[in-house]
Amino acid sequence: MQPMLLALILGFSAISTAMSAELPPYRRPDLPVDQRVADLLSRMTLEEKIDQLHQCGVGDANPNNLIQRADELRATYGSFMTAGDLALRNALQRRAVEQTRLGIPAIFGADVIHGYRTIFPIPLAQACAWDADLLRHACRSAAESARADGLDWTFAPMVDHGVDPRWGRIAETFGESPYAGSVFAAAAVTGYQEGPQGIAACLKHYVGYGASEGGRDYSSTEIAPQRLWEMHLPPFEAGVRAGALTVMSAFNDLNGVPASANHYTLTEVLRQRWGFQGFVVSDWGAVQQLIQQGYAADEADAAQLALLAGVDLDMADGLYRQHLAGLIAAGRVPLAAVDEAVSRILRVKFERGLFEQPFVAPSALTGAAPTPAQLDLAEEFAARAMVLLKNTGVLPLGPEVRRLALIGPLATDQAALLGSWAQQGRAAEVASIEAGLRERLPAGVSLRGAPGCPIEGGGREGFDAAVALARESDAVVLCLGESAGMSGENASRSTLRLPGLQEELALVVAAAGKPVVLLVVSGRPVELAAVEPKMAAILAVWQPGTRGGAAVADLLLGRRNPSGRLSVTWPRTSGQIPIYHNMRPRARTGKEGAYQDIDTSPLYEFGHGLSYTTFAYGPIRLARPTVKPGETLTAEVTVTNTGKRDGIETVLWFIRDPAASITRPLKDLKHFESASIAAGASRGFRFEIDPARDLSFPDADGHRIIEPGEIILFAGPETARFNVGP
Ligand code: NOJ
Repeated sequence: MQPMLLALILGFSAISTAMSAELPPYRRPDLPVDQRVADLLSRMTLEEKIDQLHQCGVGDANPNNLIQRADELRATYGSFMTAGDLALRNALQRRAVEQTRLGIPAIFGADVIHGYRTIFPIPLAQACAWDADLLRHACRSAAESARADGLDWTFAPMVDHGVDPRWGRIAETFGESPYAGSVFAAAAVTGYQEGPQGIAACLKHYVGYGASEGGRDYSSTEIAPQRLWEMHLPPFEAGVRAGALTVMSAFNDLNGVPASANHYTLTEVLRQRWGFQGFVVSDWGAVQQLIQQGYAADEADAAQLALLAGVDLDMADGLYRQHLAGLIAAGRVPLAAVDEAVSRILRVKFERGLFEQPFVAPSALTGAAPTPAQLDLAEEFAARAMVLLKNTGVLPLGPEVRRLALIGPLATDQAALLGSWAQQGRAAEVASIEAGLRERLPAGVSLRGAPGCPIEGGGREGFDAAVALARESDAVVLCLGESAGMSGENASRSTLRLPGLQEELALVVAAAGKPVVLLVVSGRPVELAAVEPKMAAILAVWQPGTRGGAAVADLLLGRRNPSGRLSVTWPRTSGQIPIYHNMRPRARTGKEGAYQDIDTSPLYEFGHGLSYTTFAYGPIRLARPTVKPGETLTAEVTVTNTGKRDGIETVLWFIRDPAASITRPLKDLKHFESASIAAGASRGFRFEIDPARDLSFPDADGHRIIEPGEIILFAGPETARFNVGP
């Protein structure tokens, strides 16, 4: 290096060191985060500390979450929930950093669940694409838009075990496989947090919320400890390992100790075993709800129980702010516990660079309508997420269809396609099914519509017009299902049956004798047992987001080949719940113990999904017949596209351990891979089996066991057996 240049660099660094030496240590980005945290903590009053543990909603972006007006907020509060208003966010931040003694920035969070202004499919549907990279891209894209509007943090991903379709929040889950949930948890965390426009992720709802009894939201849960480790905890652990900065404690009572006051899960497991370094936020009002749940005697007790269990930031109910000072004075809460919680929150603020860059400068994405790139991504994801459940050959619609009838209450509905967490999404920006078809139908094909009946309620006065239209058409596209508000939070249903008169509408329209393609718009599997035999084809559209209608049109017209596969078992009737692929075996098989009135199997199995092409599997090839712990075993399968169209195939690798000291699931997903295969071409798929990771199972305290013995491996219709050696 030139001596002059070296002197300049050394001189400059000497100046900057001198300047930064004048700053208090917590303001110096060159110092380790732990040192900055300790320094700042040592300067804080108790009141300032307690304010750091308080989060409240502000602004009118989400009226349900508005609890305080901006001018009533203390500048020292640690966090605010607000979205869609960068000016408000920056104004609140200015008060925090410029008008307080220590200038600690607030962290701004909101629910960015499946998109921000551009809405992607609901998570249950996202999982049906079996593409972690696509999910990661979508999360990254949503984070960029959210960041441009001033968010530092999203309350996502939700990684609850989605196994009861009555529970409205199944829509927000990645489905019923803890393995898939773990892969998608890690992908979503990475997507949200990566890059310069990344925002902090939040794994929620920790833990067990998906087991809400009877599918009733906010209910208590009874989860045997072994099941907790097997089904509920893995996606959280995967998300922590992927670097999630925050975790949200759940509403549910977990085996008698509510999740938001559960020391075992919040401290022993999350922090002591997994080494989680971020902070835990309570769900909305969850601290106060400890009283309603019969766990805390009063508000002060609730604050004490939650804090000591490991909840750091109190969302919305303000109990920490009201009671912690008194609890410390009374010796009920040690100051060290408050210091610990404050330190965790400060650590995340330092790690996200909030002290160096507290403000968000407006950018081209601030308040922006969906960009072309985001719309393309939304359309791709929507198409990949839809699942072709049945096809007698009517799809893709061929040239013989010159007159197409579009019937049903969901045909023109834009809001229903958004789903329940549309954040800044706007119904007016959604491509409805009708709009998608109108835009993409070939010239010369007529499209006429009749709603038939509303989604819910209403009478049969629209039936005649719908039936007449069906008779005059070559084929019918029938759009049935749910409105956005019928799934999501606080939206449980006792039955999966189609709401209102829709099932009846389906039957009268089918009786007109024309091929009917049923499109199911919903946040959950719905009950189709009565109508399924009459339908020529069924496509699960889910709540596909901003570009849903365009994606539907492409699939119906064969411009894209369906490739979605179910991330959740689709029951025949509500009475079959719970039903899931990774159930334990029954004591007797076949008809014994089965239902007398209906088939015991689901209508569509986990992993089911059709294509316009066909795939043939070769035999599973195993590198060896035996594997020992510490070794790996390669399994391979060749899949050939035997049809006439290119298509995407997802190989789902399951195992079964037929004899174990704790009985194992009938089938347990352990690996998956999706790939495009050209018509006539073949492709190899591989599963590198690691016994410690893939063949072990947890005991009731989460310690993993590997036992010698036989393992059955499944890929598509193929089966192979190998042994685990001692
Ligand atoms: C309650 C919901 O359970 C949670 O998922 C959400 O993040 C918070 N409200 C904040 O809106």
